[in-house]
Amino acid sequence: MTPVQTSASRPRAADRLRKAVTAQYPLLYLLTWEEDRVERMVASLAQSAQPVVPAFVWTTTRGLVNGTEAVPDTLDAHAVLDYVIATPQQGFYLLKDFHRELADNPRLARRLRDAYYALKDRGKFLCIVAPVIEIPEELKKEIYLVEISLPAEDEIAPVMDYYTQRHFNGTITDQNLRQSLVNGLKGLTYGEMQHVLNGTFAGRREFSPDLITQILLEKEQITRKDGLIEFIFPRYRPADLGGYHQLKSWLSKRVQLFTKEAAQAGITPPKGVLLMGISGCGKSLAVKVISSLWNLPLFRLDMSNVYSGANGTPENAFRRALTAVDALAPCVLWIDEIESGIVGVKENVQGGGNTRIFSTFLTWMQEKDSAVFVAATANRIDLLPAEFIRKGRFDQVFFLDLPSEEERKQIFTIHLQKKGADMLAFDLLMLSKASDGWNGAEVEQLVEAAAIEAFNEKSRLTMDHMMRNLGKFVPLSKTMTEQIKQIRSWAYGRAINAS
Ligand SMILES: Nc1ncnc2c1ncn2[C@@H]1O[C@H](COP(=O)(O)OP(=O)(O)O)[C@@H](O)[C@H]1O
Ligand SMILES: [Mg+2]
Repeated sequence: MTPVQTSASRPRAADRLRKAVTAQYPLLYLLTWEEDRVERMVASLAQSAQPVVPAFVWTTTRGLVNGTEAVPDTLDAHAVLDYVIATPQQGFYLLKDFHRELADNPRLARRLRDAYYALKDRGKFLCIVAPVIEIPEELKKEIYLVEISLPAEDEIAPVMDYYTQRHFNGTITDQNLRQSLVNGLKGLTYGEMQHVLNGTFAGRREFSPDLITQILLEKEQITRKDGLIEFIFPRYRPADLGGYHQLKSWLSKRVQLFTKEAAQAGITPPKGVLLMGISGCGKSLAVKVISSLWNLPLFRLDMSNVYSGANGTPENAFRRALTAVDALAPCVLWIDEIESGIVGVKENVQGGGNTRIFSTFLTWMQEKDSAVFVAATANRIDLLPAEFIRKGRFDQVFFLDLPSEEERKQIFTIHLQKKGADMLAFDLLMLSKASDGWNGAEVEQLVEAAAIEAFNEKSRLTMDHMMRNLGKFVPLSKTMTEQIKQIRSWAYGRAINAS
């Protein structure tokens, strides 16, 4: 099965930049972590201008520099603006640390506004490059924002070929393998791609498919620290999720919908599901299962990082994450505990922001035509705005209730097997009857506790270990009866039962 290619139709970052320049926006704000890449893009724009123009770069440490030649007295942010405003020299002026200078500096913001009028239609372009959006309110009309998305497939392929050539004296010719490697590199910046390829290829004599697994593990490590979108390595299979046959059958019917063949047949891939329900029932696990069942990469959007402020205002951070993920299609986008932001905001009494976040999200959901499947989970769905579950946004809302007796049998089996237990030694019926009202996480914890005890006793895991530990557990549903009742009554009529 080969996934659909949608990124080809998406304008590349370089094309968007070119367009902005053609449209004569004199102040550009290039949003990216990849300074080097943007510098190359701008240099190539300058090279392709008629006539060719220079591309200057400004930093707080070196001032304005053209190649190796420094322009004197331009270390200061005001000075560089004065210089660009005054000079007749057409060209590009890339400002690297400028957004920091701009923060809380109304005089500089004013000077930048002056620059807008002075540079307009003069063939001079100021490009501020920054990893976060920090544009003063009064400049929002003058500054044109260009989001430099992560490298697309046609940009990844040459990098991959360069490194395979360098390490293995040849390029990969097998088309499926090429595609898997390109997919494996998606979601990384240029710099990260280079590190990953160098790191995984080093010491190898030839390319082998297991290197792709290495690359995915590396990618998981790298994206974990960076913030908004995190790649999740596929570790769980459908057999790891007990119960929920309705959900599973819904998913199985859609396995083929993200393939090239489906796209050719004009099938629109599904937009997303919302999994709501009681904590510890396997919502997060179910999302991981979707991606492996459909053979799509899984990216997690961390809502707490959206709200943290480390990536700009929550709205900007969220919008940006959604744009970034378009470049990763086809993929599954996991928005875990989507309501958590709302709770936080209510507590901090900030108001406003999260309503806008949700409307941004809903608009994006409705309009997106990329093959991004959203899998959102929620514990407290009653906190979400009503339009959230209206038809057309999510293809389906599933309610994951506490597992039934039969489902608990399956869950016990899954976790006991993971411990390598001899299944004949366990009375599953007895275990599942004794664990009435438990969620899947609690079943797992019981197996874990019993296994530890068996290990300490240097014996095999037995039914006896299970029964001894059973009494020590007070399931969540005992202490949260009211809340569970509420969730159930909310779900009734609004969501399909996953079981
Ligand atoms: N239906 C299930 N089948 C198998 N394991 C389960 C199930 N539900 C929960 N678990 C176990 O409990 C852990 C925590 O579940 P999780 O997916 O985080 O629940 P939720 O996201 O609904 O709070 C899972 O990683 C898994 O080991
Ligand atoms: Mg969860």
